[in-house]
Amino acid sequence: MAMSTRCAIARSKMSLTKCFILLSYFICQLYAVQRDNFKTCEQSSFCKRQRAYQPAQSPYVALEDSLKITSNTIDIQLLNKDNNVRFLLTIFGLQDNMFRIKMNELSPIKERYEIPVGDALKEEPAQQKINFAGKDKDKFVIKMSNHKLLLSLSPFRIDAYTDETPVMSLNSQGLLKFEQMRIKPEAKPPADDSADENGEEANPQEAVENQEEKVKEEKKEDETGMWEETFKTFTDSKPHGPSSIGIDVSFPGFENVYGIPEHADTMALKTTKSTDPYRLFNLDVFEYDLYNPMALYGAVPLMYAHNEDRTVGIFWHNAAETWIDISSNTADKSVFSHIADFVKGNNEIPQTDTHWFSESGVIDVFLLLGPTPRDVFKQYSRLTGTTQLPPLYSLAYHQCRWNYNDQDDVKAVDANFDKFDIPFDVIWLDIEHTDGKKYFTWAHDKFPTPEEMIKNLSVKGRKLVTIVDPHLKREDGYSVYTDARDRGFLIKNKDGNDYEGWCWPGSSSWPDFTNPVVREWWADKFALSEYKGSTPDLIVWNDMNEPSVFNGPEITFHKDVKHYNNFENRDLHNIYGMYVHQATMEGLVKRSGGKERSFVLTRAFFAGSQRYSAVWTGDNIGEWSHLKVSIPMVLSLNLAGITFSGADVGGFFKNPDPELLTRWYQTGAFYPFFRAHAHLDTRRREPYLLPEENIKIVREALRLRYSLLPYYYTLFYQAEEDGLPIFRPLWVDYPKDKDVFKIDDQFLIGSSLLVKPVTDQGQTNVNVYFPGKDNVWYDIDTYQTYDGSMTINVPAPLDKIPVYQKGGSIIARKLRPRRSSSLMYQDPFTLIVCLDKQGKAEGELYVDDYHSFQYKNGDYIHRQFIFNKNTLSSKNIDPKGQFNTREWIEKIIIVGFPNEPKKITIANSSGENSRILGFQYNENNKSLTIRKPGDNIADIWTLVIV
Ligand code: GLC
Repeated sequence: MAMSTRCAIARSKMSLTKCFILLSYFICQLYAVQRDNFKTCEQSSFCKRQRAYQPAQSPYVALEDSLKITSNTIDIQLLNKDNNVRFLLTIFGLQDNMFRIKMNELSPIKERYEIPVGDALKEEPAQQKINFAGKDKDKFVIKMSNHKLLLSLSPFRIDAYTDETPVMSLNSQGLLKFEQMRIKPEAKPPADDSADENGEEANPQEAVENQEEKVKEEKKEDETGMWEETFKTFTDSKPHGPSSIGIDVSFPGFENVYGIPEHADTMALKTTKSTDPYRLFNLDVFEYDLYNPMALYGAVPLMYAHNEDRTVGIFWHNAAETWIDISSNTADKSVFSHIADFVKGNNEIPQTDTHWFSESGVIDVFLLLGPTPRDVFKQYSRLTGTTQLPPLYSLAYHQCRWNYNDQDDVKAVDANFDKFDIPFDVIWLDIEHTDGKKYFTWAHDKFPTPEEMIKNLSVKGRKLVTIVDPHLKREDGYSVYTDARDRGFLIKNKDGNDYEGWCWPGSSSWPDFTNPVVREWWADKFALSEYKGSTPDLIVWNDMNEPSVFNGPEITFHKDVKHYNNFENRDLHNIYGMYVHQATMEGLVKRSGGKERSFVLTRAFFAGSQRYSAVWTGDNIGEWSHLKVSIPMVLSLNLAGITFSGADVGGFFKNPDPELLTRWYQTGAFYPFFRAHAHLDTRRREPYLLPEENIKIVREALRLRYSLLPYYYTLFYQAEEDGLPIFRPLWVDYPKDKDVFKIDDQFLIGSSLLVKPVTDQGQTNVNVYFPGKDNVWYDIDTYQTYDGSMTINVPAPLDKIPVYQKGGSIIARKLRPRRSSSLMYQDPFTLIVCLDKQGKAEGELYVDDYHSFQYKNGDYIHRQFIFNKNTLSSKNIDPKGQFNTREWIEKIIIVGFPNEPKKITIANSSGENSRILGFQYNENNKSLTIRKPGDNIADIWTLVIV
């Protein structure tokens, strides 16, 4: 097994001291076991309590007298009749068709954690006027444009309707369970925390008695693990006792739900009746299993429900460990009065019920009311932001391995790519490049002149990535560590001392990235003057930021470690990793004086991570099954806003054979983030080491990606505004076609490319489903046509990637092969115009300097190409943008053109300077190639075919 060798290496390298042998032994022990390193729901007391909760009727009632109405919000108190604890529920109307529902204890004895605004939420969401329309029977009616909420008082529940159609309900299953903070029975209450709900001083003795009363109530349920919990050898001290929250969310009329990455599972989520719930808890899971709900490295608590009529979603704004149960049912017609109109003539109305529970924090749920897929993506991106336009090189190919050993190795890899005429943009250095895993340092024997090494790459437009993990080696001579320690920036254990755990360097501590001052301090470490040996062409990879702690419970922090403002890791675990890569990105941008866009890759992520970094799916395996699952994994990430994502090409562990590696390159060429990576222990597998035939095929796959960079770049530009997935499930563009709702072995890139990679060994044919009844799709190599709404078995020998351009689209490509993307900056475009059945097509192209923030000041060109009635024109669709470039149009290929034309002319906007253009018509595949229209990409022109 890869890991046993990893352990052997670790052991031999660390055999110098007894301590290190012990460390490697520990690591090996931890890594030898897999699943049982991680909790099941049964082993997590709050998960067990929440999952088992099935009251005959919800004990929560809304107290009519407490209602307070403002123009955008409604406050109402809830009472848990079982223990008389009161809560405050606030409903906010939000712009863009969203409601927010927040619930907290009315008077918690300790402040409950809420994620600060500006972190997951990019800013305070803009509110919208709601209209309190009084009471209808025992329900309050709250209206916002064509949406309304019905708030039932007893038991409390909320049903959301759009145009009188029920779309979501909260607590309709009665699973709301909010564990109030309480005083441990034997402990004395703190003197100054004794104000009661009315702000009056309570008698401490009474407070204890009340608490004891409440605790007695809780005793009715399983109390195990409420005040202390042990997993394996780890005891969680739980100083604040139980604090979990949970509620059910139902989607009447919906059979399919999606999202909540990260899981190695299908895109359409499965019911969890016979498994654990889906878990969101950022963890370093060694050799993860496929098709199960176990947690992985990152978490986005966002779920979409989609049917033929609409798409809705919920965003669960909570950074604590979270589990989600899913079950499929039929809707309760007695409750939804309008259900009969909702699905006419159908007695069985499908419904998906979900049940969300988190270990701590507050209930803070955003209802995204769609109604279209595009609307929900926009809604979610209004809340948490979008992927910032990446610099072009980062969309090109990245060559990584653990490890490129020394400067000569880097030089040789770089030279070999050139020798074999294979493009690449970025070479990566893993942990061995450092001096003893002390990040921001270099192993000087192996990398004596890093600046020179980077400059040698820079001349070809290439970059270097170094890995910078968040664990700091506890060594007195290591200034990053001592600086953090001396400033008090390190995370503390429950006793208030610096937390210590083991990671790659051995004994380590972690900066508290949840503190904004610490983030700023970290960002400054990337200044060129601080990070010796770095240059502006050095960019960064943050790994192990879940964080991974080899000797910690579930290979991560103890839950009772203390962060900024005295919160525990329990409260915010899932957002820690995001703060790491946020600070890194801020440092890299600051390094350039705020001028240059930069690049960071992160393994751990949370809602909002898309604003700072690309994400990869961690330590996958070089097996066919992992190639296959990478597609639903990247689809789910894209649905959850993490558009800039991909999987390790080739698989991290094990040695893929040439066929698998070739197929993986063909798939990876379409991941938005495209990087090959391999474990220390694997054989070298740079593409030029493949057999000759495979080199040729991989070279073509890479060239295809490079030729499509203008298309990817344009999609990323658009997505910065609208938050649409780049690597897109078919249902996003074909929302009414039920046949595509579960498809996750093929995908769209934007709207115009359909890809069905081969992910099975020995396979030379694949079934492709071509969506869209009236569509026609063109094979991008042969221009063979396929009609929409059909599944067709197409040949897919090893040198073929089944990729199709949609009839009706225009894609700008750059077809001149180059060594790196920056050498393509000034290259000319070829427009590929694929006509639909009406002989029409359109497409967009976005151009700027490809690396700086100047586009924010208007230095860009955004064009639209339209083909209609044998006329192709180029117009400026955003007059705010202006940019000087030498890029021009070298060729136009019109596909699906019915017959050979007589003459083709091109003229500028005022019809002047008309020129006749040369062309060639291919009768067999109906393609018309027009040579050298020659216009600058910024010009306005019209081309006429007669
Ligand atoms: C983790 C990463 C992997 C990296 C290794 C060494 O396993 O997931 O990509 O190569 O650490 O840094």
